Amino acid sequence: MLTSKENKCIQIVRHYVESVFIDDETGHDYEHIKRVVTLTTRFITNEDAFVAIMIAYMHDLFDDKLNKVDSIEEAFASMVKKEGLDLLGKDKEILKGIMSIGFRGGFNTVKQSPEAVLVSDADYLDAMGAIGIARCFYYAGTKGHPIYDAQLDSVVIDNEQAYRNEKRNAIRHFDEKLLKLKDRIQTPSAQEMANDRHQFLLEYYQRFWDEVL
Ligand code: ADP
Ligand code: NI
Repeated sequence: MLTSKENKCIQIVRHYVESVFIDDETGHDYEHIKRVVTLTTRFITNEDAFVAIMIAYMHDLFDDKLNKVDSIEEAFASMVKKEGLDLLGKDKEILKGIMSIGFRGGFNTVKQSPEAVLVSDADYLDAMGAIGIARCFYYAGTKGHPIYDAQLDSVVIDNEQAYRNEKRNAIRHFDEKLLKLKDRIQTPSAQEMANDRHQFLLEYYQRFWDEVL
């Protein structure tokens, strides 16, 4: 399915991405990247496998929460040069794909290439189900947000800036994002997984509020 040149490039990118994310404490650890790559690979049918896998490995590299860069285009170009990557003339497609991944509070949606849709679906799936719940509370913990504090219950998020920065209850992330993901997923095989993970989120969410009393 992949040529030897494509495989060689994937290997270099894998090592680079592993070195960047190995110490991450925001829930974007290298295992998250690996899961997104694995799911993306499973979802490929007629798409360009090399482009999809490249986007999957690099989708969180220039995320503003992790790695604030002035220009993603420049940061991407400098990484390509430094690592001596030969992206086989597909640089633009890959960069555009990377830039189109991310929920952003649902405020900034862009049209995605078929390859980017696969990665988006894989990334959304990893924010759902058991892993998704763990990542939600872990992320909130690293930001100093409480699990649930009645005082913070009225915080309203109505723009991307607030979505990124406002202190609020971790459980609210279910309403803001996690419970909305099922309806954003486009790939049929990913939709099937999403239905199952969504059911689990709902059950957890219900029990959470039962136990809050
Ligand atoms: P992704 O890796 O899908 O691009 P994000 O970068 O938005 O997702 O966030 C990383 C992880 O942290 C995801 O599982 C996401 O749901 C979770 N997360 C993001 N923002 C918050 C928040 N305000 N509270 C709790 N969890 C969050
Ligand atoms: Ni991600």
